[in-house]
Amino acid sequence: MLIRDDIMIVKPIKTIKGEIIAPPDKSISHRAVILSAIASGKTTISNFLFSDDTFRTLSAIRKLGVSIDIDENSSGLLVEGKGLDGLTATDEINCGNSGTTMRLLTGLLCGQKFNSYLYGDESLNKRPMKRIQEPLSYMGAKIKLEKGHAPIIIEPSKLNPIKYTMNIASAQVKSSILLASLYTSGVTEIEELLPTRNHTEVMLKHFNCNIEYEDNFVRIINPNKLIAKDIFVPGDISSATYFIALALITENSNLIIRDVGVNKSRTHILRLWQKMGGDIRIFNERILNSEDIADIEVKSSDLTGIVIDKKDVSQCIDEIPILAVTAAYAKGETLISGAEELKVKESDRLHYIYMNLKNMKSDVKLGDNSIYINGKENLVGSHIDTANDHRIAMAFTVAGLKASGETNISNHECVRISYPDFYKDLYKIIKH
Ligand code: S3P
Repeated sequence: MLIRDDIMIVKPIKTIKGEIIAPPDKSISHRAVILSAIASGKTTISNFLFSDDTFRTLSAIRKLGVSIDIDENSSGLLVEGKGLDGLTATDEINCGNSGTTMRLLTGLLCGQKFNSYLYGDESLNKRPMKRIQEPLSYMGAKIKLEKGHAPIIIEPSKLNPIKYTMNIASAQVKSSILLASLYTSGVTEIEELLPTRNHTEVMLKHFNCNIEYEDNFVRIINPNKLIAKDIFVPGDISSATYFIALALITENSNLIIRDVGVNKSRTHILRLWQKMGGDIRIFNERILNSEDIADIEVKSSDLTGIVIDKKDVSQCIDEIPILAVTAAYAKGETLISGAEELKVKESDRLHYIYMNLKNMKSDVKLGDNSIYINGKENLVGSHIDTANDHRIAMAFTVAGLKASGETNISNHECVRISYPDFYKDLYKIIKH
């Protein structure tokens, strides 16, 4: 890999070997800052992810009057919690590219006694926000959107608890409701038709909240007082998947990834790859601040195509681009269906998976909400349009490392959204 005229040039590699530590989890980092800000007492957050998205949440919380000290050497934060009613008004909050920042903060802010204004970058301002406006409005929130999108204007109002069945699979929507519910009195229940990540629930419990949760159901009984408690952020399994995929599709590879968060609501991707024939071993399992964490060993494997439906998609929503890349190198056919949520991510991921695979001469077809891939042994290097989407950039870097010829990744710097050291970590394990 080398950078020429600002473009990342990726060439085929021989094998990958060695060990890396997964970068800190993005979802848990966002939640750690938000919940520690409204807890009573001080929270030390170790192994916080310093990335563009998580900085958006950190800056927003600071603007809301919370003191956060950063120790970049130990990747630690010290947050002086203000309690549930200690946040103070700010002019406007720039959420950048981060949907998690925008949706979770909207839930948090609609129960405050002050107005708020949230906006994002070009991509975020196009993403759907009605999905949070609807349940939060049922709770009594006053939220104005512009044609269903940000900027979001929030006015103070009295909130009530809610019983809500989610018609969209979204951990961000679920979390937004849970945060708003902290400003109500009574029982809020959320039923999910399709399961999504449960880090908000896990962390609320960690902070002493009266909350119960199962695979598809959450009940929170308010009022609550959140009590500060230190947090170690486990490694991000979504970031680790780029390395897992590369080891799976590259001959003679053997890779160990340490300290990966293996919360059941995030490991579906590993089960899917194991079903495809992937040699993936999870070991050294332990629990750290209520989250499961483990090491993962991956060896090169002969993968076979698989059928993936809507329920699979909801449980590995961020891994579909890299899953598609491994399917493109697997034997036989893969069908990913029920993937409409992919279209409203940082980019229309279904479209960019299709276009980029097609340009690499993969046998691929795009449906309304689905993608069909007939795998082959070799793809051909090509220009990759990342659409400034970090997950497209990382997935197609992996695709390029196995393809013949050169693959050019435009705007590769967008990886800093979730994984600023992505290319540095890759260099460590590539053997030419
Ligand atoms: C996230 C939830 C997912 C995911 C995003 C992070 C979270 O979004 O795609 O990267 O931290 O809650 P949705 O809940 O909108 O599917």
